[in-house]
Amino acid sequence: MSRLSEQEINEIRAKADIVEVIAHYLPITRKGRSYSAVCPFHDDHDPSMSISAEKQIFKCFVCGSGGNVFSFVQKYEQLSFIEAVYKVAEIVGIPLERPQELMYERIDPKTTALHKVCHDTIEYTHYQLRTPDAQSILAYLHQRGLSDEIIDRFELGYNPPNDALYRFLHAKKHEDEHLVDAGVVRMGPQGMNDVFYHRIMIPIHDENGNPVGFSARRIGDGAEAKYINTQETPIYHKGDLIFNYHRAKGEARKEKCVYLVEGAMDVLALEKVDHHNAIAMLGTACTKEQLKLLSRLGVDVVVCYDGDQAGRNATYKFGKLAKGILSFTIVENKTALDPDEIIEAYGRDELKKTLHKTISWIDFLFAYLMHKYDLENYSQKKEYAKELAEEIASLKDEFEKKNYYIRLRELTGFDMDVKEAIKKPQANATYQKRTYLTYPKSGILAAEYEILSQMLHARSACNYFRDELGYLLDHHANQLALCMIDYYRTHAEIQVADFLNTISEEGVKTQLLSVAQWELASDEVNMEALREAVTKLKSCMLDEKIARLVQDAQAVNDPIEKAKIAEERNALIRERNALIQTREE
Ligand code: GTP
Ligand code: MN
Repeated sequence: MSRLSEQEINEIRAKADIVEVIAHYLPITRKGRSYSAVCPFHDDHDPSMSISAEKQIFKCFVCGSGGNVFSFVQKYEQLSFIEAVYKVAEIVGIPLERPQELMYERIDPKTTALHKVCHDTIEYTHYQLRTPDAQSILAYLHQRGLSDEIIDRFELGYNPPNDALYRFLHAKKHEDEHLVDAGVVRMGPQGMNDVFYHRIMIPIHDENGNPVGFSARRIGDGAEAKYINTQETPIYHKGDLIFNYHRAKGEARKEKCVYLVEGAMDVLALEKVDHHNAIAMLGTACTKEQLKLLSRLGVDVVVCYDGDQAGRNATYKFGKLAKGILSFTIVENKTALDPDEIIEAYGRDELKKTLHKTISWIDFLFAYLMHKYDLENYSQKKEYAKELAEEIASLKDEFEKKNYYIRLRELTGFDMDVKEAIKKPQANATYQKRTYLTYPKSGILAAEYEILSQMLHARSACNYFRDELGYLLDHHANQLALCMIDYYRTHAEIQVADFLNTISEEGVKTQLLSVAQWELASDEVNMEALREAVTKLKSCMLDEKIARLVQDAQAVNDPIEKAKIAEERNALIRERNALIQTREE
């Protein structure tokens, strides 16, 4: 089995940009020299996590989590260190052969068995589609504009009648219990029955591409349900799944957007016009879990639900949930049709054109809320203005904000801009944030931060510390200083993200991250400041010793002993005074 060497791990870290990797999971914004994001490790609302491209580390100022690119992925995905290394390599596109035991390390045998059932079901039903008995089914798919290429890529299939799937899976030695638990077979009065008999099979995968279930369409326009989806199973949790997520994610990142549509058939419709970045919630309302998956893509979401009232209601629900969490726009669909029907009615070019026409969330609300409130009625008009003003107030772009307020005033006669300004004085919030970020450290703590931060910058500072002082008072700070001295033995300079890997103690890591992101740190070595900090610490240490001697003197009775201690104390006081004098000169 191939194990990664220290050097290989370092190479991966050097190639992986932490900003890029975190952006795969979270929306991030640029903030001066660094980036910030809403911290995923605590219930964060403001972006409290700062990411430094220069130092290749992240740190949350509220919950304290921080580290390098591996620590982030490890924590976010709940992986072991080595798994995180492989994951990072995968994200940034470094080809690595994953050792077999890592692939299924955290998956129990039952889960693997259910994946296997789904896998074999896909293989069987996909094969069935091309048999003579299924000719009319294949013809139906072709008639719906699905090419063989799309049919194969999505592994569409046909589950024949007469429990053919059960018999096949049984012959393949799957246990009945697994077939039932995977949701493809159920126990009937006369034995096992296929759940999706005589239906078109659309396989559904989890975010990692494991097959977990099916959306199965009835053939033609019968009376039974048009779609039957897999019921909840140990591997199929409909609230956590997004159809086509695993295939679309790469393309979405490339295109910097993902299309969110209602049904699987609409995802396929977008495939017909060469958009490979469409996903669907399969007719259910979006859950928080699904929203997390979406925001992990780190791209704009283009909502393209059906053009009917149900589709608009779903868009409204989605927007209320997603605003502030991810950035999204809405396709202005002026027909009452879904994307697939647009192709059917007007052709592919029309769908392409429609997908291109997007409006903002606020634009959507201006129109949508007119159906919810009657603007002819004064109190309803007020409610309309209030709901819109609340949404406008949360916009970040001042220019946009101003313009929407004007539009709202022209439409309703209410000037909501003024009201907002009185209600929320902004200055307060920014003030609190700043004082928090600048870490007001005083006395010994500030001096130790100064020393450590200088040591981080240059070996010369480290040597100066080692020769002049040699240790720090705070336990973690002292440990960190020792680690740095050690690290400089083999490295000309410190790269924080790499240095982090050499430290095992959690408290020391935290100390390093705080020092590395200390707001008062200077950019280059400042010997003056370093000398001052060392002197300050020396005198503090002397003060401590003096205080201890005073206590000792009180505890002894022997006058000779007392005199000895007093002598020692006086020497220290002289030393301290000399120290302070040189500083003041
Ligand atoms: P086509 O009619 O084949 O083009 O499908 P569609 O995607 O246009 O279907 P529709 O807009 O009616 O439904 C959108 C999504 O809702 C589908 O992808 C299904 O996941 C879900 N859905 C539709 N009908 C049913 C149903 O009868 N039962 C269940 N459980 N889900 C359904
Ligand atoms: Mn349709």
